Amino acid sequence: MRLSRYFLPVLKETPSEAQIASHRLMLRAGMIKQQTAGIYSWLPLGFKVLRRIEQIVHEEQIRAGHIPMLMPTLQPADLWRESGRYDDYGEEMLRIRDRHGRDMLYGPTNEEMITDIFRAHVGSYKDLPLTLYHIQWKFRDEIRPRFGVMRGREFFMKDGYNFDLDYESAMHAYNRHMVSYLRSYERMGLQAIPMRADSGPIGGDDTHEFLVLADTGESEVFYDSAITDLRLGDREIDYDDWDEVAAICKEWTTPYARTDETHDAAQFDALPDERRKTSRGIEVGQIFYFGTKYSEPMGATVQDREGNKVAVHMGSHGIGVSRLVGAIIEANHDDKGIIWPEGVTPFHAGIVNLKQGDAEADAACEDLYAALVSAGLEPLYDDREERAGAKFATMDLVGVPWRITVGPRGMKNGVVELTSRRSGESEELAPELAVTRLKEIYAGHL
Ligand SMILES: Nc1ncnc2c1ncn2[C@@H]1O[C@H](COP(=O)(O)OP(=O)(O)O)[C@@H](O)[C@H]1O
Ligand SMILES: [Mg+2]
Repeated sequence: MRLSRYFLPVLKETPSEAQIASHRLMLRAGMIKQQTAGIYSWLPLGFKVLRRIEQIVHEEQIRAGHIPMLMPTLQPADLWRESGRYDDYGEEMLRIRDRHGRDMLYGPTNEEMITDIFRAHVGSYKDLPLTLYHIQWKFRDEIRPRFGVMRGREFFMKDGYNFDLDYESAMHAYNRHMVSYLRSYERMGLQAIPMRADSGPIGGDDTHEFLVLADTGESEVFYDSAITDLRLGDREIDYDDWDEVAAICKEWTTPYARTDETHDAAQFDALPDERRKTSRGIEVGQIFYFGTKYSEPMGATVQDREGNKVAVHMGSHGIGVSRLVGAIIEANHDDKGIIWPEGVTPFHAGIVNLKQGDAEADAACEDLYAALVSAGLEPLYDDREERAGAKFATMDLVGVPWRITVGPRGMKNGVVELTSRRSGESEELAPELAVTRLKEIYAGHL
């Protein structure tokens, strides 16, 4: 992309309505525009990041054996009357009436609809286990939408639903979700810690939230610092191996990690002083086993091996895709702007031409641009007639992790400058070598 032809409406002024860094930076970098409280347009730069996150979530869900589909945003109220939630959900549900007087709603989640799909098409244990998911817009009429896309009213969420014959199989589905979520966050350059969450009126303790540590998080969290050393890395995971998947979950759930809702001071205080950490956290996902809560009232049953009709065991599992854009920025920024992790960056490298209009400099930039594109990378080329300082400031603000600077002085020696946004360190090298370096850097991310 050439900046002169792009739509990147960066703001000079810091917007006064934004209270936290990610919201300020998303507005300043021209990623989003608020249309009304808690509802945003995703401008081209923001949309690119949203798509990258969505793509990672898809890849990791499919790797875990979960099946993508798409359900509508608008739902008939009758389905929710069957589960009893039409009355229980309260004011967060946006209720709509169509021209025929039928009650509709903008879906805040999809348990009822997926259960309806299941009961229409599945009748035998032979069709189990089954996990279906979609990534779709949701609406919750939050009383206090705030922090930009972090707590929106309309937001983009991955929600998946498992259907299993019994508790053990459903727990394997639960574990698969935990591991695939950990892998997804890691690919996004984030550490999200699974924490025992409050299961509310349903009972049992089979729910975990995933929290990214950040001062601006809405939850208070308590954890054993040992958990922050854990990484999945590039280990091979066989999602069909129940024991292997359970062992990974055990590794991540053994060190103490709780939100204020489930915090147990006695257990926490038993940890050595230096490992006892308190912080704030942003919830970027939650997994949930709820048994037959929906399958029983809605008649989602199958015939088991003995021919008995049994209600299926279910769970639901969500990742806040649009919230993640904000959470990643909270965890990756400095006073100049965003610093995208390589896994989600909207552009892989920025090209800054210090002497726009100079035939030689322009040609060198065009060559670099073409070489990056043919290496499968997406460059952002600042080809505007601007001074160097302004070009650097734009690249820093929008957070491109690697910048290639092309200037007359370097060109005399046949070199360009490759600069890391994160460390600020630069090295001079031949343009071909800069392309090779970037190819290596992004090898695991394309
Ligand atoms: N209002 C919102 N704006 C943006 N993301 C949200 C919002 N509400 C929930 N999410 C995201 O969707 C994920 C799954 O939703 P869920 O656990 O049902 O939400 P909650 O914990 O708020 O009830 C959450 O972990 C969070 O990342
Ligand atoms: Mg939640």
